[in-house]
Amino acid sequence: MKWKTSVNRVVIIGTGAVGCSYAYSMINQGVAEELVLIDVNESKAEGEAMDLGHGMPFAPSPVKVWNGDYSDCKLADLIVITAGLPQKPGETRLDLIEKNKAIFKEMIKNIMDSGFDGIILVATNPVDILTYITWKESGLPKERVIGSGTVLDSARLRYQLGQYLNIDTRNVHAAIIGEHGDTELPVWSHASIGIVPLQSWLEKHQEYEIADLDNIFENVRDAAYKIIERKGATYYGIGMSLVRITKAILNNENSILTVSCLLEGQYGQNNVYMGVPALVNRNGVREIVEIDLQKEEWDKFNHSAEVLRSLLK
Ligand code: 2OP
Repeated sequence: MKWKTSVNRVVIIGTGAVGCSYAYSMINQGVAEELVLIDVNESKAEGEAMDLGHGMPFAPSPVKVWNGDYSDCKLADLIVITAGLPQKPGETRLDLIEKNKAIFKEMIKNIMDSGFDGIILVATNPVDILTYITWKESGLPKERVIGSGTVLDSARLRYQLGQYLNIDTRNVHAAIIGEHGDTELPVWSHASIGIVPLQSWLEKHQEYEIADLDNIFENVRDAAYKIIERKGATYYGIGMSLVRITKAILNNENSILTVSCLLEGQYGQNNVYMGVPALVNRNGVREIVEIDLQKEEWDKFNHSAEVLRSLLK
């Protein structure tokens, strides 16, 4: 019997609330065999590794977790970047660009100097801008530099729609695309409940109003602001979204997720990272899935692209 010789090593850079929620979810879902925590605050990373390790007897499978340094990146299959300054109440994600761009340039240099040659998954905001910077600075092929994109936003939409229609969210298929931010947009034209188009479902269930969809989308788009106002930050939703993307990569799933990808003509856009449906597997982004949009959806998508590209200049 051929024993599995290589272990899945994931390096998490940033042991703040997002990084630790991700690590905690990874261990509880039994994803990866090695988790390395890196933080400028080494004592924090050490404390988090100790605390996570003490739960290991209850994990579905053993995970070696330790606080490491950039030399641990060389053998990593996946590096997840959560380090950076988070939004303050009332601050937009795009307000964080200058502060986080400087942090990223140094971080990416340290990663690449280690000899790393795997996949980088970026979560820090503004995620589309910082993923583009990571791709440029790292020199890695575009398919191996991915942002969390609108995976969380799509999950929020599916959750809110499921609540509204009293349907298991696993049967609610809906996507948010574009900027992970204020210019994101819902693709209502492709939403479905099971295999029933959403439009047909609402027509057959008169107790629901099409007009409520706008309210549902606004709640999704503004969810982070509302959570930050109440508890100071968001981290469980994004942490679990990052685990979902990690499983698609490490398990070579070929799953479709709205991660942030480099567009090179797809959706009529070039030289910008945006959340779009993409096939994700062990090699990163296998293919960007192009869908036909309605005119209103195209207008919003193109606006979202322009906002992001203007900030990249
Ligand atoms: C979120 O959407 C803040 O981008 C983070 O929860």
